[in-house]
Amino acid sequence: MLGRDVEGHYRYWNDVQLVHRALPEIDFADIDPSTTLLGRRLAAPLVITGMTGGFPDAAKINENLARAAAELGVAMGVGSERAAVLKGQYPESYACVARYDVPLKFANIGAPQIIPQAPGDPVVGPDLVRSAMELIHADLLAIHLNFLQEMVQPEGDRRARGSLDRIGELAATFPVLVKETGAGISREVAESLRDRKVRAFDVSGTGGTSFAAVEHYRALDQGAEREARVGKTFWDWGIPSPVSVLEVVGVGLPVIASGGIRSGLDVARAIALGASAAGTAGGVLKAAAAGYAETRRELETIVHELKVAMFLTGSRTLAELQKAPYVITGETRPWLRR
Ligand SMILES: Cc1cc2nc3c(=O)[nH]c(=O)nc-3n(C[C@H](O)[C@H](O)[C@H](O)COP(=O)(O)O)c2cc1C
Repeated sequence: MLGRDVEGHYRYWNDVQLVHRALPEIDFADIDPSTTLLGRRLAAPLVITGMTGGFPDAAKINENLARAAAELGVAMGVGSERAAVLKGQYPESYACVARYDVPLKFANIGAPQIIPQAPGDPVVGPDLVRSAMELIHADLLAIHLNFLQEMVQPEGDRRARGSLDRIGELAATFPVLVKETGAGISREVAESLRDRKVRAFDVSGTGGTSFAAVEHYRALDQGAEREARVGKTFWDWGIPSPVSVLEVVGVGLPVIASGGIRSGLDVARAIALGASAAGTAGGVLKAAAAGYAETRRELETIVHELKVAMFLTGSRTLAELQKAPYVITGETRPWLRR
């Protein structure tokens, strides 16, 4: 997928305009973007959201990300650990993350894997969740919601009934964050999950990596015409990331804003909307595949851009940035009246 265009067609984050403050009345050197997220101290409100693991080349990518996350004091997740916990595939491609002092780490399992998809199919229950978490010494378990992706995969998992209660059962034992994978979380879904005692959300809305697009190309390669067409039809399906943030912050749990975060200015926009941190996957994938130096440079640039946005809004801290005035324009604006 590295060589293909799998981005959504509209950049919703550009619709969040922070109001420029011509007299910041602070010094750039005094800006402090550090924060506490889910009990862990981060140097900046940044999460590398789960991407990979389960095949040999993934180890290098996860290692580049983990080393850079540890050096810069930001959080990270790994990709779905289904392959490692259900089939024992390349556990080292995840476990390498545990060797770095990443301040906050997320294990990762898909909602389709916690309910039976076919009679006799293995299901990820508490024992396998424990293994997934131990593999990377995770602080939280991220359960991902990816039913759009499943609908574009020729062999996709089509059963979703019962996932909410199963998430609730796991959340009674483990600290659980629920994340989408590019189609966003609505207020209604967030409320139902809050009532099941999940600890946090990563909204992962529309406007960044489109999993309908990713699977569209895979379906094309496999000659699966109908799924390839569905992927094209639903390329931009979902709730725009900034809208999802505004809806989900209302339920009173920490929110990671993701889906199309591509710069530190996007991170600043997310914080101004009330997110506790912002996450990116597609924004660091190329760098992570290239090497550690590239990964570190990209993350440092994002943090620098965040600080520039803080300076130009007169925000010395993230608490001040959360109060910065903004205007919502473009295609995002009508969503606010839904
Ligand atoms: C190559 C790649 C693989 C991904 N794999 C997973 C995964 O296994 N589990 C998961 O929860 N999210 C996965 N995601 C989704 C991201 O964590 C994120 O929610 C989504 O890509 C939107 O963010 P972005 O626009 O910054 O890419 C993946 C994303 C990419 C780009």
